[in-house]
Amino acid sequence: MDLKSSAMSHAAATIVIFGLLFLQAAECRNVKKIKDGVTYSAIKCRKHSALLTDFGAVGDGKTLNTKAFKAAVDHLSKSASKGGAQLIVPPGKWLTGSFNLTSHFTLFLHKDAIIHGTQDESEWPILPVLPSYGRGRDAPDGRFSSLIFGTNLTDVIITGNNGTIDGQGAPWWDKYRKGLLNVTRPYLIEIMYSNHIQISNLTLINSPSWHVHPIYSSYITIQGITILAPVNVPNTDGINPDSCSQLRIEDCYIVSGDDCIAVKSGWDQYGIKVGMPTEHVVIRRLTCISPKSATVALGSEMSGGIRDVRVEDVTAINTESSIRIKTAVGRGAYVKDIYARRVTLKTMKYVFWMTGAYGSHPNNDFDPNALPVIQNINFKEFVAENVSIPAQLDGIANDPFKGICMSNVSISLSANPTKLLWNCTGIEGITSNVTPKACDLLLQQQKPVDCAFPEDKLAIEGFNLTTCFAGFAKV
Ligand SMILES: *[C@@H]1O[C@H](CO)[C@@H](O)[C@H](O)[C@H]1NC(C)=O
Ligand SMILES: *[C@@H]1O[C@H](CO)[C@@H](O)[C@H](O)[C@H]1NC(C)=O
Ligand SMILES: *[C@@H]1O[C@H](CO)[C@@H](O)[C@H](O)[C@H]1NC(C)=O
Ligand SMILES: *[C@@H]1O[C@H](CO)[C@@H](O)[C@H](O)[C@H]1NC(C)=O
Ligand SMILES: *[C@@H]1O[C@H](CO)[C@@H](O)[C@H](O)[C@H]1NC(C)=O
Ligand SMILES: *[C@@H]1O[C@H](CO)[C@@H](O)[C@H](O)[C@H]1NC(C)=O
Ligand SMILES: *[C@@H]1O[C@H](CO)[C@@H](O)[C@H](O)[C@H]1NC(C)=O
Ligand SMILES: *[C@@H]1O[C@H](CO)[C@@H](O)[C@H](O)[C@H]1NC(C)=O
Ligand SMILES: *[C@@H]1O[C@H](CO)[C@@H](O)[C@H](O)[C@H]1NC(C)=O
Repeated sequence: MDLKSSAMSHAAATIVIFGLLFLQAAECRNVKKIKDGVTYSAIKCRKHSALLTDFGAVGDGKTLNTKAFKAAVDHLSKSASKGGAQLIVPPGKWLTGSFNLTSHFTLFLHKDAIIHGTQDESEWPILPVLPSYGRGRDAPDGRFSSLIFGTNLTDVIITGNNGTIDGQGAPWWDKYRKGLLNVTRPYLIEIMYSNHIQISNLTLINSPSWHVHPIYSSYITIQGITILAPVNVPNTDGINPDSCSQLRIEDCYIVSGDDCIAVKSGWDQYGIKVGMPTEHVVIRRLTCISPKSATVALGSEMSGGIRDVRVEDVTAINTESSIRIKTAVGRGAYVKDIYARRVTLKTMKYVFWMTGAYGSHPNNDFDPNALPVIQNINFKEFVAENVSIPAQLDGIANDPFKGICMSNVSISLSANPTKLLWNCTGIEGITSNVTPKACDLLLQQQKPVDCAFPEDKLAIEGFNLTTCFAGFAKV
């Protein structure tokens, strides 16, 4: 921790006036500062530290602080090559528009700090559409920049001891529903073309749309995030890794109006052209509540490919489905080498759901010959209670989903289950120790089979976190 640098910049003029007297006082305050703070785990600690209030911010919930955030990040970016800097957001309600991050930078939110996204649209710059989507998801025109945005960065941390970022999404949800948007809604946090990213120990609420969207990025650690949005609002997905590699998502609790986690990689001809897969992902100790969507969705935008996704120790309650594959003719690419184990489900519409006719195209120029390859999908040790539909598995007629393996799956039915418990078309695979008995397309094995789950660790799991310090006292 560099206690001097922030004190110096703030007080340089004062030193001239008060001389030694000031230095003595500063020393006392520095001792106080060391006590008034917390330690936290991070991929990197920073040499320099500053408070948001050093840049004129006012935490009254009314004053717009966009300029203060920008000034803080601009100023602290000068420390990037000198040991990096952290910006502490102290207790208060900090209203702001969209702002950008910088490299070798930590944004730390005190547990009583709330960043509120302003509802004034002019505070959200409009960015071009993503190359792998070819258009905005909500509307063909551009897209609003996320509340917290970063592009072409390295070594960025967004953390806290459970501070809050509130997107105040209600007016956006309303406009979306009424079809009044010609620009795609902003996300809460988006990181693009970046690597070595950590997002941890925060509560994220009421995003206008998705909550966390890393895209075209790698080496991403997401831990200890609580995400809360009403379960009846549109597209408030939790975490959406998109054309990213080496991700570790652990210990998250997500309640949302859309998928808790949706793994993606671009849309039809645009995603095929960019060709960046999402790969080497581990998702563990996730708790999800999503009555209208999936615990973990793979797709529907998967046109750069999705492979090597490992899901374990997951609980879902009152959720539409567990791990769902969504794709369509025109998507191309693949969803393959998918593994899930130790999944506990309570009150579910579906346990297993695969959809080969999801539709939803960016425009009519998609290639009807671009068939997705769905292969090597492994699910084991699932226990589900109060289930209406054990499985709805729809592959593509001339393009079956292959190599599906399910073992040690126990599903208890709800009071009024569907008549056809396993409804399967266009799929191939095997089952072992699965109840109720699966459809005939998933051949029941006489000898017990244990579906695969990789033994090795991903590279991102080899990165250890170090203990850093965030001081809260005003210097
Ligand atoms: C953030 O950076 C992007 C890309 O450089 C830029 O278009 C946008 O205006 C910046 N946003 C803000 C709030 O400065
Ligand atoms: C960011 O990186 C992308 C991909 O490497 C590149 O196309 C783009 O020009 C970069 N943008 C900036 C602002 O450096
Ligand atoms: C962050 O969360 C983890 C659990 O996910 C916890 O062990 C750790 O103490 C938390 N750190 C802070 C600074 O709150
Ligand atoms: C963080 O805050 C949220 C919202 O108040 C709460 O639900 C969650 O349990 C807290 N997490 C931790 C680790 O304290
Ligand atoms: C969106 O529509 C508004 C009102 O119709 C118009 O003023 C604005 O220029 C449009 N924005 C874009 C990016 O097309
Ligand atoms: C079972 O699921 C139904 C919805 O299908 C729900 O209404 C009911 O409360 C659930 N029962 C239990 C015991 O969780
Ligand atoms: C089985 O799924 C098909 C869609 O593939 C659907 O049309 C049909 O109604 C389902 N059958 C039953 C009995 O639920
Ligand atoms: C899976 O089920 C088999 C019986 O088919 C049993 O021998 C095995 O112990 C089970 N494995 C786990 C991890 O539950
Ligand atoms: C991370 O810590 C583990 C356990 O202490 C150790 O085996 C491993 O070598 C460390 N990795 C790195 C990259 O330092």
